[in-house]
Amino acid sequence: MPNTKEFDNTVNIGIESSPLDLPVITGTYDEKGIDISKLLAKTGHVTLDIGFKNTGSTTSTITYIDGDKGVLEHRGYRIEDLASEASFLEVCFLLLKEHLPKRAELDEFVGSVQDYITPPAGIKAILDAMPDDTHPMGMLSAIFASLSGFYPESLDSWTSEEVRWRTIYRLLGHMPGICAYIHRRKANLEYIDPNPSLGYVENFLYMMSGKVDPVVADALDTLLILHADHEQNCSASTVRFVGSSQVNLFASISAGNSALWGPLHGGANQAVLEMLEAIKNDGGDTDKYLDKAKDKNDPFRLMGFGHRVYKNHDPRAKVIKRYADVVLDKLEVEDPVLSIAKGLERAALNDPYFSDRKLFPNVDFYSGIIYRALGIPVDMFTVMFALGRLPGWIAQWKEMREGNEPIGRPRQIYTGHDTRPYIPIGDR
Ligand code: ACO
Repeated sequence: MPNTKEFDNTVNIGIESSPLDLPVITGTYDEKGIDISKLLAKTGHVTLDIGFKNTGSTTSTITYIDGDKGVLEHRGYRIEDLASEASFLEVCFLLLKEHLPKRAELDEFVGSVQDYITPPAGIKAILDAMPDDTHPMGMLSAIFASLSGFYPESLDSWTSEEVRWRTIYRLLGHMPGICAYIHRRKANLEYIDPNPSLGYVENFLYMMSGKVDPVVADALDTLLILHADHEQNCSASTVRFVGSSQVNLFASISAGNSALWGPLHGGANQAVLEMLEAIKNDGGDTDKYLDKAKDKNDPFRLMGFGHRVYKNHDPRAKVIKRYADVVLDKLEVEDPVLSIAKGLERAALNDPYFSDRKLFPNVDFYSGIIYRALGIPVDMFTVMFALGRLPGWIAQWKEMREGNEPIGRPRQIYTGHDTRPYIPIGDR
């Protein structure tokens, strides 16, 4: 059971010689957070923590990460167990409904999602109207935002539990079709409508390519589980932050998806493969690229390396690396960039620049190699991340709304010009 003991301790800080006791919140695994909610009122000071490196934005019961030990759990279940034992929709249920489903509960949940497996026809028209060069993530953010137009009841979905769940099921149900339509639009191929007799992941593959390989479906199901949630990262925090204005779920998810797109977040999976290709085409000299990554005058970073929270290893990366070998083997795919990736990892782990800074491969380092082996084009990789992360975003949004969290509105320290007189344009 979650074990958040509120205010069981205080810390004392002195500001301008006046002592102030601040309550300390302790989490399930004894993590400590100083509650500064009364700081401004009592002292006139705010805290400054650019990039939120030290700042907790909420308490949450969804996901636990121990960055020093490389532990990731959803609702108390280890990611390694979920990846090897559960199905993606079972993990969706767990994230959204807070417990592992019994068989009948899962069947009902799967049925509710499958009811919405066909996206509205108008989505194809929106995609058709977009310029050919639009990035798939730009398409996805636009489609998420457009869903509120197809389903106006979602605008105030919080007022009714029934409408709220219908909105959630619609979003989950439509997602494989939306992603597959985006791929077909980009590849200039005819759209394929879903086959209701197929499962969630199988349908996605069918709508992508018109065929379903059980090995590919199984691999993809596991990859989606590994991406399902990751607590208060940039995109989840965006979903919660935007949602705290009480805008609808679709708009909040659209904003979170845009956050995911960036190369420092989910966009890294595309960037990794492009980097590995560049290394291969440049003769496979990994040392040259390690030197570039270490050079502070060079903006190049080793993509797929480093993480804000993991300072030991990313448990998802470990599973994915093992999986890359198995999947490529099963599919009889030989990809030269896999050995470049392994060589790069080995060299980086033995290099003091990376070990001193605790930089390890993250979830994105090997995922692209598997996606490519599964036949998914590189510019769709971040969309694949979004397909997996959707239940996490929804769970974060739901928890934020259920907790009645106030609108997110940080403070700042103003460092601009002080007051000065306005000078008419002719006199400047
Ligand atoms: N290559 C080279 N140096 C790196 C890298 C990297 N990939 N990552 C961090 N560093 C260095 C920084 O230059 C910095 O060095 P310094 O102390 O000498 O200045 C130090 O390590 C700390 O890095 P920060 O940028 O301060 O760490 P932060 O927590 O802000 O950033 C991040 C984490 C964004 C993931 C970063 O490691 C990075 O840019 N990685 C590459 C992009 C990537 O793979 N992103 C995916 C992350 S996982 C996900 O979002 C799904």
